[in-house]
Amino acid sequence: MKEVRVRILENMPIAAGINRLRFALPEKVEGLRCGRFVNLSVGDGAHLLRRPIAICEHTGDTVTVCYQIKGAGTRLLSARKAGEELTCVLPLGNGFVLKEDEHRVALVGGGVGVFPMISVLKEYAGTGRVFCSYMGFRTKAAVCCEDIFRDGSARAKLVTDDGSFGEKTNAVAAFFADLENAKPDVILSCGPLPMLRALKSGLAERGVKIPCYVSLEERMGCGVGACLVCVCDLENGARARVCKDGPVFAIGEVDL
Ligand SMILES: Cc1cc2nc3c(=O)[nH]c(=O)nc-3n(C[C@H](O)[C@H](O)[C@H](O)COP(=O)(O)OP(=O)(O)OC[C@H]3O[C@@H](n4cnc5c(N)ncnc54)[C@H](O)[C@@H]3O)c2cc1C
Ligand code: FES
Repeated sequence: MKEVRVRILENMPIAAGINRLRFALPEKVEGLRCGRFVNLSVGDGAHLLRRPIAICEHTGDTVTVCYQIKGAGTRLLSARKAGEELTCVLPLGNGFVLKEDEHRVALVGGGVGVFPMISVLKEYAGTGRVFCSYMGFRTKAAVCCEDIFRDGSARAKLVTDDGSFGEKTNAVAAFFADLENAKPDVILSCGPLPMLRALKSGLAERGVKIPCYVSLEERMGCGVGACLVCVCDLENGARARVCKDGPVFAIGEVDL
């Protein structure tokens, strides 16, 4: 983990209220991987807390993230221009790791949870794995990165809550409807808590024993395990820090 000053290369809208931000790293950073995240300043001293955002794609010297303009911090971030600098702590968290025998992979993403799913597709491209993607968006205007999911997946279903694009359903329902075709060895997911709960209960109701890992989104302070703002409950009664012990957990391990 390092704190670096990064230079913005691009910060542009890709869907309603969603921006893609690509920045240049000043030096090589070890450990950039899918499912890990960065803690990014928004470019104003009045907003001291950095914002956690998932890594969407990384090359040796650039990182791309996609973020929803939600509150004051991300609104400020959206006003930053190419050429400006931000400070960034990265990489944070544990990330997704596929085992050798996890050949068929189902990706289930909802809302801003679709972005860490992109990082998995990019990271494991060319490894011979078969991806089936189930991505849920609120409405057509929020749909983004369609080509990435279609190009990187053997099966890709992009759906909306209101049916204005694709089927009128959600990512979890779309996944369960296609489970027999997907035949995944492992399920990776990220999205709002109700979506992850629906995934967990859906797996239990159907008696599906396929390994499943979820990336949690909690309010964060320090991002490095020190402040305990981000703790979540585990099924065994213990608590874990989403920033340091996660954000990726086995679905059976966390009390959603
Ligand atoms: C590990 C992780 C990865 C994330 N990846 C993405 C991503 O790829 N794209 C994306 O759009 N969003 C992502 N988020 C959510 C993003 O961090 C929040 O939307 C953002 O911090 C909101 O900041 P704000 O100032 O605009 O909103 P405000 O609501 O004004 O924020 C006030 C404070 O609450 C915190 N906060 C608010 N909402 C969240 C939230 N949902 N999660 C964590 N902290 C929050 C902010 O960091 C800030 O400290 C991620 C969150 C986590 C924990
Ligand atoms: S954000 Fe401080 S411990 Fe996780």
